[in-house]
Amino acid sequence: MMKILNIVGARPNFMKIAPIIEAMNSYPDRIEQMLVHTGQHYDEKMSKAFFEDLGMPKPDIDLGVGSGTHAEQTARIMVEFEKVCIKERPDLVIVVGDVNSTMACAITAKKLGIKVAHVEAGLRSMDMSMPEEINRLCTDVLCDYLFTTDHFANENLKSEGIPEEKIFFVGNVMIDTLMKHKKAAAKLDLADRLGLEPGKYATLTLHRPSNVDDKNTLQGILEVLSQIARELPIVFPIHPRTKKMTDLFGLSHYFSDGEKAEGIWTVDPLGYLDFLHLNMHAKMTLTDSGGLQEETTVLGIPCITMRENTERPITCEIGTNVIVGSNPDSILAAAEKILNGPRPNGKVPEKWDGKAAERIVEVIISRRKT
Ligand code: UD1
Repeated sequence: MMKILNIVGARPNFMKIAPIIEAMNSYPDRIEQMLVHTGQHYDEKMSKAFFEDLGMPKPDIDLGVGSGTHAEQTARIMVEFEKVCIKERPDLVIVVGDVNSTMACAITAKKLGIKVAHVEAGLRSMDMSMPEEINRLCTDVLCDYLFTTDHFANENLKSEGIPEEKIFFVGNVMIDTLMKHKKAAAKLDLADRLGLEPGKYATLTLHRPSNVDDKNTLQGILEVLSQIARELPIVFPIHPRTKKMTDLFGLSHYFSDGEKAEGIWTVDPLGYLDFLHLNMHAKMTLTDSGGLQEETTVLGIPCITMRENTERPITCEIGTNVIVGSNPDSILAAAEKILNGPRPNGKVPEKWDGKAAERIVEVIISRRKT
């Protein structure tokens, strides 16, 4: 019997761990699993709603660390998670993605001599001003199993000197979740209730510190988005960080709370199924998130990424994603191209087929035997 601790902390972790939990459930005589929530995200709409939508079990352990500076949050996770590792003595800790919880738990477990697996390893933006890039690098260098989503990730890891026998190209667990829930999401009526017609609105996410923590950058982006919104309604489930910053900078006049009103239409953060529903029927998505670049590629929806770089270049190479940065003119040009041009033809990357979590669990079980 192998004891495994699965770690979640922030919103983009939940849909990545859900299929892994499910795949492990097929081996009840081989794997004893526990779910640990660090509490990095704690608002009902940033956390609990996802557990419900994804049918995930309640966490066995909640570290309840909450928000703080990077050092405060990372340190609190490490202090609390160390106690859990000492008490539970797991054989393996599984971390996903690139948030502070990912790095904090990987370091803590490794220093106690516990094996660590990183799901979504090898992604690199080459931009060290992104906290996530630091989290990715620190996590990957420590891990015993590196599960990757594409060939770029494998190449990055090899060029950093990670031995090949630790790297496993398994596909994309986030897409496992998307495929499982796509049918149910399609049947929801949120777009209808909001008065939105399929293909006649855009969705927006915006929360990266580089876009929202600087007043001029944020104002430039909101200005151009409100211009686009005059042609195509933009629905914006607003992230708590962005809400805090727009209030602080006095920029909330760019927002409206209804389709007929001027401006970007803000709604509270949405659950997984509702947001998937809105995205699958959208004309385009405007975003600075990581996962949405992948989800839109699989859905075939054009995606405009308002960042200077991406750690997910495959979504641009073969998918529907374009990187435009935070320059208002570039954002406008990309949106106009989609509004006035033909729909881009994207392909789905290799092994983004809904079976990544099964492959991960097979690797873990088979390596345990050797
Ligand atoms: C974190 C991740 C980011 C991920 C994002 C998804 C890191 C470094 N960043 O960024 O990679 O894309 O999650 O959402 O781990 N807050 C709330 N309620 C919550 C959580 C946060 O109000 O449930 C507010 C707090 O004011 C907090 C701020 O949002 O200070 C930022 O939260 P934090 O977890 O530090 O970073 P995110 O911007 O959410």
